[in-house]
Amino acid sequence: MTCPWTRRYAQRMQGMSGSIIRELLKLTEQPDIISFAGGLPAPEVFPVAQFEAATQRVLANHGAQALQYSTTEGYRPLREYIVQKMSRYGIQTRPENVLITSGAQQALDLIGKVMLDPGDVILTEQPTYMGALQAWRAYQADYVTVPVDDDGICLDERFIEALRAGPKFMYILPNFQNPAGVTLSLERRRKLVQIADHYGIPIIEDDPYGDLRYEGEHLPPLIAMDADFQEETRPNGNGRSFTRGDVIYLGTFSKTLAPGLRLGWMVAPEEVIKRCVMAKQGMDLHTSTFSQMVAYEVARDGFLDEHKLLIRQVYRERRDVMLAAMEEHFPLGVYWTRPSGGLFLWVTLPDWMDAAELLKTAIENKVAFVPGAAFHPNASEGVGHNTARFNFSNAQPAQIEEGIRRLGQVLTRAMAEHHEDQIEPEPVLA
Ligand SMILES: Cc1ncc(COP(=O)(O)O)c(C=O)c1O
Repeated sequence: MTCPWTRRYAQRMQGMSGSIIRELLKLTEQPDIISFAGGLPAPEVFPVAQFEAATQRVLANHGAQALQYSTTEGYRPLREYIVQKMSRYGIQTRPENVLITSGAQQALDLIGKVMLDPGDVILTEQPTYMGALQAWRAYQADYVTVPVDDDGICLDERFIEALRAGPKFMYILPNFQNPAGVTLSLERRRKLVQIADHYGIPIIEDDPYGDLRYEGEHLPPLIAMDADFQEETRPNGNGRSFTRGDVIYLGTFSKTLAPGLRLGWMVAPEEVIKRCVMAKQGMDLHTSTFSQMVAYEVARDGFLDEHKLLIRQVYRERRDVMLAAMEEHFPLGVYWTRPSGGLFLWVTLPDWMDAAELLKTAIENKVAFVPGAAFHPNASEGVGHNTARFNFSNAQPAQIEEGIRRLGQVLTRAMAEHHEDQIEPEPVLA
């Protein structure tokens, strides 16, 4: 007896849909499209020669180990490297608190698997990272959202109202947020951590862009501000791994080394790490031993610090080119954020304009961006229809200038047409 496949899927599939970004990325494969759509690093800055040399060294010196199965927690020297790297940002931890994941994306999925029951509520920023929504929809989560402004998530009455929904955790992107490009201020960091502690609501701190700051002072990560974490890890502390604290921190090598490695990490109380290890075993046993060993070989001895200087220089220039081009070509009534780091900025169009419609005309003009609705957990209510995310890291400066110029024309035409429609026709007098 044949049964249609649609009747065989689990209930959780009903809430899942493909990523609009993945679909858009297919478009950008057309060579003549200038794409601001994906979140891709600039391929020119990938340290290909360093990877080639490191791969040879790993194979020559530890070939069998690199090709073998390994522990779920991750390659110990890489975890030690991460501990050392994070200590510079005030995160004093131990390898037992670090789990290597197959990208930060897997860490999001692991958190869903370990923490979410169907119907659980997650508090997110609005807009927020679409990949997290995708991961957690599979666990049948619901969302309450709080808007962001230039200082990150707004901790006003809307936040207090969202807390009333009893969220299982809060999902926060403190640095150069994807998609809006905004950064959580120091004052709000303090307040947020205090609230989390007061109500006992954990924070998932997703920080892929913290290293990509182009100006201003680095701000302390939320995990380092958490009182329980500080208590356990303070200098002259017990020197053991930490077991308490309300924050889980996520990092990645995708934006500083290469996303194709699929290497990220989670820092959490040891208890949480143990649960995530169990969950990860069912997913992929462990992250690629080969990737971990090669990444370690590339990153050790300070290469990554040097490399980050280059990336910052390249991306800062591209951001400046995009901002200047928007200033020159975008019509009045269009607004955008001015990020001090990261890969994205956020455009707000006039309320009557639909970014998805605009994208169709943009593509006819061979330019692409991502309409903002997909970054709004409650987009079906119409929120975010007039917003869009622009990536500035991937296209070359000359392409950025040209793409924004073309979009400026598209926008100016759309505004003029709208304006004409708004003008009342003169009454015909007999
Ligand atoms: C906020 C955020 N979290 C997680 C990820 C996933 O990163 P990874 O490549 O490490 O899986 C991304 C990727 O763009 C991101 O922007």
